[in-house]
Amino acid sequence: MSPNPPAAFGVDIGGSGIKGAPVDLRAGRLRTERLRIPTPRPSTPEAVLAAVGEVLAQFGNPKRFGVTFPGVVKNGTVRTAANVDAGWVDFDAVLALRESTGADVAVLNDADAAGLAEARFGAAKGQGGVVIMLTLGTGIGTAVLIDGKLVPNTELGHLEIDGRDAETRASDSARGRDDLDWQHWAKRLSKYVRHLEALLWPDMIIFGGGVSKKSEKWLPLVRHVRTPMVPATLANDAGIIGAALWARERAGGVR
Ligand code: BGC
Repeated sequence: MSPNPPAAFGVDIGGSGIKGAPVDLRAGRLRTERLRIPTPRPSTPEAVLAAVGEVLAQFGNPKRFGVTFPGVVKNGTVRTAANVDAGWVDFDAVLALRESTGADVAVLNDADAAGLAEARFGAAKGQGGVVIMLTLGTGIGTAVLIDGKLVPNTELGHLEIDGRDAETRASDSARGRDDLDWQHWAKRLSKYVRHLEALLWPDMIIFGGGVSKKSEKWLPLVRHVRTPMVPATLANDAGIIGAALWARERAGGVR
């Protein structure tokens, strides 16, 4: 290992905030406090990319960075946008960011980024086999890793449960919208997790998203699941760390 690896930087685009920070990829943690600015509304590509530019400028415009996006990202182009402005669909985010910054850029799904970071540095460090990471927030994001290698864009938060899109029933925002107590929300989540388990037979399930910080309140209520279930350990930083990792792994222009 070289004594001075190139600086790594990650940006996490979420429905409510855009967060960025330099990342120490040896230790798997942020180098400094992250910067967060509210996601513009409407969250059009132009407005969001201007906000990403503001975050980058605060850190001296890094020459390489990774960015997460809350939808499917294929070869740098966004393909779905369930919880952000529909103008993102078919938008080439890598091209736009390369043009506006001149930097080496990689873009990936937000849950994929969190899953990569947890697999490398967090709850699934050293875990072999099939790991599923679920991010419980506005939607349900999923990452599937096989022996630490990501299967990108799995979108299992949109599995159908009782004829409904799972994320509209079991996400953290569904808990708030339907005013559910932990018990009732955990019941919905259990049904979803059992469905996932029956289809994929994972070796570990990691729960992330803001609500994972209170996992002691609801994780013991997720019942009749055989797979070991653990809360994420990198909390809010997982997306930023995973984005920076992806940028390093994709260095040199592979999209
Ligand atoms: C999107 C996913 C995303 C998840 C979490 C879902 O609605 O389809 O791509 O990972 O929300 O943001």
